[in-house]
Amino acid sequence: MIQLSGVTKIYPNGVRALNDVSLRIRKGEFIFLVGPSGAGKTTLMKLLYREEFPTKGQIIFGGKSLVRMRPREIPYLRRSIGMIFQDFRLLPQKTVYENVAFALEVIGASKREIRRAVPAVLEMVGLSDKAGVFPAHLSGGEQQRVCVARAIVNNPVLIIADEPTGNLDPETSWELMKLLDDINLHGTTIIMATHAWDIVNHMKKRVVELVDGRIVRDEEKGVYRHEA
Ligand SMILES: Nc1ncnc2c1ncn2[C@@H]1O[C@H](COP(=O)(O)OP(=O)(O)OP(=O)(O)O)[C@@H](O)[C@H]1O
Ligand SMILES: [Mg+2]
Repeated sequence: MIQLSGVTKIYPNGVRALNDVSLRIRKGEFIFLVGPSGAGKTTLMKLLYREEFPTKGQIIFGGKSLVRMRPREIPYLRRSIGMIFQDFRLLPQKTVYENVAFALEVIGASKREIRRAVPAVLEMVGLSDKAGVFPAHLSGGEQQRVCVARAIVNNPVLIIADEPTGNLDPETSWELMKLLDDINLHGTTIIMATHAWDIVNHMKKRVVELVDGRIVRDEEKGVYRHEA
């Protein structure tokens, strides 16, 4: 589904965030992206939704080159990807329902489609009773579940989650992971960058480790780190 070949990313300030990275992601996989701070995890994810552009190399997503993709095609790419961030990024002046509905409004979904889809995803993340509440009146775990609802509401083929448990307590983190695992079992590919070693060790998914912009490890049913 996704193929990176010889991808290097050098930021304008000269930082080489990714160095000759090649990676193949198959449909339906669940991948943990691990590695120390500054290793290039977020950069790799940004390349996938064309937030950043590679300095060198090729990225193929669903048969299309992201390098050759025209700017007007980028919105269509982003419609096929759900994004979840550590800091939630919900719209504070919109309710839970409106935050999720907004993700559909911006892609031109009909009112009817919105009325059908939003309650269904809120039910799935267990927030039906909070539909009318504003983000500021939710716990961190509830806010993150709104983000999951927003990410999945238009049936993305890929979910990119950048440290989604970074601001959650352990129990809430596990609930989020169960939710993501369930979404993955329904066929959605998931790439999740994380420092949560206990989650990685427990879930036994594919683990790709970056160090200084290079892939140093790629294992099926991997662990966070091998002790020497
Ligand atoms: N917009 C940018 N401009 C310049 N340098 C950047 C930019 N974004 C990231 N970098 C640099 O690129 C390198 C990789 O950063 P990146 O954010 O991809 O790391 P990361 O693995 O996600 O780290 P963390 O675990 O702390 O989130 C770092 O050296 C960082 O300082
Ligand atoms: Mg990061």
